[in-house]
Amino acid sequence: MKRSVFTAASTLAVVAASAVSMAQAGPEAEVLHWWTSGGEAKSVAVLQQEFSANGGTWTDMPVAGGGGDAAMTALRARVLSGNAPTAVQLKGPAIQEWYEEGVLADISAVAEAEGWDKVLPASIAAHMKCEGQWCAAPVNVHRVDWLWANAEILAANDIAMPTSWDDFNAAADKLMAAGVIPLAHGGQAWQDATVFEVVALGLLGPDGFHQAFVDLDPEMLGSDKMVAVFDQMRKMRGYVDSNFPGRDWNLATSMVMNGEAAFQIMGDWAKGEFLAAGKVPGEDFLCASAPGEGFLYNVDSFAMFDVSGDDKQQGQALLAKLIVGQNFQKVFNLNKGSIPARVDVAMDDFDSCAHLSSAEMTTSSKDGSLLPSYAHGMAMRGAQSGAITDVVTAHFNSDMSSAEAVEMLVAAVENSL
Ligand code: GAL
Repeated sequence: MKRSVFTAASTLAVVAASAVSMAQAGPEAEVLHWWTSGGEAKSVAVLQQEFSANGGTWTDMPVAGGGGDAAMTALRARVLSGNAPTAVQLKGPAIQEWYEEGVLADISAVAEAEGWDKVLPASIAAHMKCEGQWCAAPVNVHRVDWLWANAEILAANDIAMPTSWDDFNAAADKLMAAGVIPLAHGGQAWQDATVFEVVALGLLGPDGFHQAFVDLDPEMLGSDKMVAVFDQMRKMRGYVDSNFPGRDWNLATSMVMNGEAAFQIMGDWAKGEFLAAGKVPGEDFLCASAPGEGFLYNVDSFAMFDVSGDDKQQGQALLAKLIVGQNFQKVFNLNKGSIPARVDVAMDDFDSCAHLSSAEMTTSSKDGSLLPSYAHGMAMRGAQSGAITDVVTAHFNSDMSSAEAVEMLVAAVENSL
């Protein structure tokens, strides 16, 4: 008797335990991303919360380092050891590069059920597809060619937002004379590349930019116009403070916020930092498209890696669905500084910088000046963008002449092909 009670009790215990484990089973995701600054962390928390609210269990794998270079190194190590994360922040042609390695999951079932083709612009959808199948989900459109400024410093020095590079240089010279650091910058290769591509868009124009960084045309890469781009980069080097090496981009943004520097050239994830710190656009800080025509886009997205296990696969499907969902696209982008990737999200709650971005993106996509960011991995494969960035950063951090930099640029691109 005793024995059977004992048996019944243990059976009950087993049943109870499996009920607990059944309750715990469900969508799971280990998510690798590099969103660790104040504004970025607030934004990724929106996804994490939505995932949990929908029954998912989120394992966070943040790899600090703006621009994602460190995250991509961590990803390679995980994939090589046969233990890929379920979802990874991945973008541009790197998506297709990983697909070619045969390690990405097909998320077409979710994309078709959710009608992604109807709510995403064709140019964004194209980045998310691999040989016709959906292999990534877009979260936003970041614009890269922005100029951010401390409103009070500009007013105190009687400076308007520059509309040409000559204007910018004049403003920076004036600020230097007044003892103000003109440009907040962090000396990391990807930040050098960010400033370089913004200057290049301004001075080469949209067609020249396309020729150089999409077509990789040696004629444009080696042109006198490109010499002028490096000349301007030399000037930019003169406008940063001496503590710039290694500084993180968000610390550079803080310099503008705190009145230690006047301007920063950075994508609108910088706005996420201003907003997270309670700063108000148009009052505390100013945003303007950097001098010149065109719009450099940088679309963040998540790719799902090929993993086994129902829980993980359910997690991937749920995550993909939520990412492109209307609510997430709005709330996430309000925090992140970007604008939604889907076209049917009401912009009423967005600020003036986001409205400017949205309007100029529409104009640029009509007149052919909507261009992929090279510095943020949208324009070309890793071997080519790496080769260009090596030259840009070598020039920025030495006294190399512009002519020499241009010669190196042509050779580096040619060798990388
Ligand atoms: C970009 C990314 C942004 C932002 C930035 C700084 O490459 O697209 O979302 O995170 O790096 O980390």
